[in-house]
Amino acid sequence: MKRILVTGALGQIGSELIIKLRERYGTEHIIATDIRKNGNPVVQSGPFETLDVTDAKEMAAVAKKYQVDTVIHLAALLSATAEKNPLLAWNLNMGGLVNALEVARELNLQFFTPSSIGAFGPTTPKDHTPQDTIQRPITMYGVNKVAGELLCDYYYYKFGVDTRGLRFPGLISYVTPPGGGTTDNAVEI
Ligand SMILES: NC(=O)c1ccc[n+]([C@@H]2O[C@H](COP(=O)([O-])OP(=O)(O)OC[C@H]3O[C@@H](n4cnc5c(N)ncnc54)[C@H](O)[C@@H]3O)[C@@H](O)[C@H]2O)c1
Repeated sequence: MKRILVTGALGQIGSELIIKLRERYGTEHIIATDIRKNGNPVVQSGPFETLDVTDAKEMAAVAKKYQVDTVIHLAALLSATAEKNPLLAWNLNMGGLVNALEVARELNLQFFTPSSIGAFGPTTPKDHTPQDTIQRPITMYGVNKVAGELLCDYYYYKFGVDTRGLRFPGLISYVTPPGGGTTDNAVEI
């Protein structure tokens, strides 16, 4: 049975995904983490740890404590918020990602993190866009997502880490308000 560590668990995706994962794999098998803690059912309904993903040692400690075999890395600063504070976005989005990938490498874990249509840019073909295409985004979030896709590829080719991702469009939760991005292409910069 899988044991999954989820970062950024109180966000739009995590707050709904974790409930479903706990139904599927069992409550004790899904370890929800976030930098903050609130009254969300995710905190009450199973294991929850306060975890800042920029703290590499703490992330490794939580992964070891619960003996997880998979990381779903959701903690990030999203498009509009990232554009207001690009340096913070770089540090969180790239620093958190590389920490999570390192934990996956060290402990031989499966790894998933979402990319975004924000990884495209104004020069990306708009119709029948292929998987490998022009990716020259002009937002910090987009730059982070392109770099993140490449970093995940690197960890696969260099270290054999099972890294996977998807480019999500704007997703809106019905329980949690957006943390800064809904439709990445609508961001005013
Ligand atoms: N929602 C969308 O439309 C969408 C689209 C494409 C990709 N994605 C990607 O999916 C992932 C999750 O998105 P979301 O919509 O759930 O985001 P969100 O903004 O709703 O949630 C992000 C969560 O990360 C947490 N967080 C922030 N800083 C942290 C830190 N230092 N350590 C730990 N946690 C921290 C926040 O508290 C928050 O709960 C992100 O990688 C995002 O880029 C989302």
